[in-house]
Amino acid sequence: MSAARKKKHAKSTGPGLEETLDTELDELESTTTVEELEEAAATASALIAEVVAEAEHNAPLRDIIAPPFIDFNKVSIAFNGRPVLDKVSFHVGRGQTLCILGRSGVGKSVSLRILLGFLKPDSGCISVDGQEISTLNERDMQEIRKHVTMVFQNGALFDSLSVGENIAFPLREKGGLAEDQIEQLVTRLLDLVGASDTVNLLPSSLSTGQKRCIAIARALAAQPEAILYDEPTTMVDPIMGRNIGDLIQRLKLQLGITSIVVTHDMRFAIRLADLVLFLEGGVARFFGPLDEFLRCTDPEVERFLALDAYLPPRPVRGPVAVLNP
Ligand SMILES: Nc1ncnc2c1ncn2[C@@H]1O[C@H](COP(=O)(O)OP(=O)(O)OP(=O)(O)O)[C@@H](O)[C@H]1O
Ligand SMILES: [Mg+2]
Repeated sequence: MSAARKKKHAKSTGPGLEETLDTELDELESTTTVEELEEAAATASALIAEVVAEAEHNAPLRDIIAPPFIDFNKVSIAFNGRPVLDKVSFHVGRGQTLCILGRSGVGKSVSLRILLGFLKPDSGCISVDGQEISTLNERDMQEIRKHVTMVFQNGALFDSLSVGENIAFPLREKGGLAEDQIEQLVTRLLDLVGASDTVNLLPSSLSTGQKRCIAIARALAAQPEAILYDEPTTMVDPIMGRNIGDLIQRLKLQLGITSIVVTHDMRFAIRLADLVLFLEGGVARFFGPLDEFLRCTDPEVERFLALDAYLPPRPVRGPVAVLNP
């Protein structure tokens, strides 16, 4: 401390205190060097890093911040003695998107059906928003399905009802809304999915992709917290596939909807996924963030990624062969 500052300090504190303070300050100045402070800071940083690493090891940090909204814990199911899922665990936080990947027949759709209670697992726990659901009866499961809903590939729309009436259906079922409120909501939902011009059409006159968008609008009318999609981009052209992807992303960003998307389409997964579950041979071969999945060196994952050929071609090194010079 400078002499001037010490003097100023002395005036405000009185002689007794001044002396003690001076001694303490002198001691501080004499013993605390910049190097020591730097060392102390480094020790503190190392300690903090150690504590964070330990906490993350015990429970990933994102779990502490956002407890899982949907949690599969060691879920197993076998059909006719043939195991399809063997102690599969994954979770997805509120507002996150999980993509389930894997080859045909590995149990992707089965996982969704278990989650909706259409299939009962042989063992394991499944919770939605902290509530264990694997033991619920059908009536209680119907309640859960209001919060966690599914968009089926064919849309599962009522053929005899117009698009507008299809979307109004869950709103009417819920009750408590006047007809003009229902009409307004239908208009807004159709706007949201970019299909305002289809309100009076029958589902039979829609393309597969359009049907899927309407099915998403109808699912939204029930105000779910999570939406499950089973291969939403199969049988639609790449532009419609992109629209559906944009829509799923918008629902996440604008409405905070949690999504689980089963897909074979790696490009689609890369655009949407926060988390990836890769099923192979009945087990969760990988579960974690998308970037870790893309860097994963597990040969099964590498083979899947190579099969899907999502990677851009590697730059050609050396001279390039010229055809028909
Ligand atoms: N109800 C059932 N009874 C008997 N076996 C079933 C039943 N449901 C599913 N399976 C079997 O479970 C396995 C996994 O089926 P699932 O439909 O989940 O595959 P998937 O991963 O969705 O495949 P894909 O990519 O072809 O849709 C398949 O071998 C299927 O035959
Ligand atoms: Mg399937």
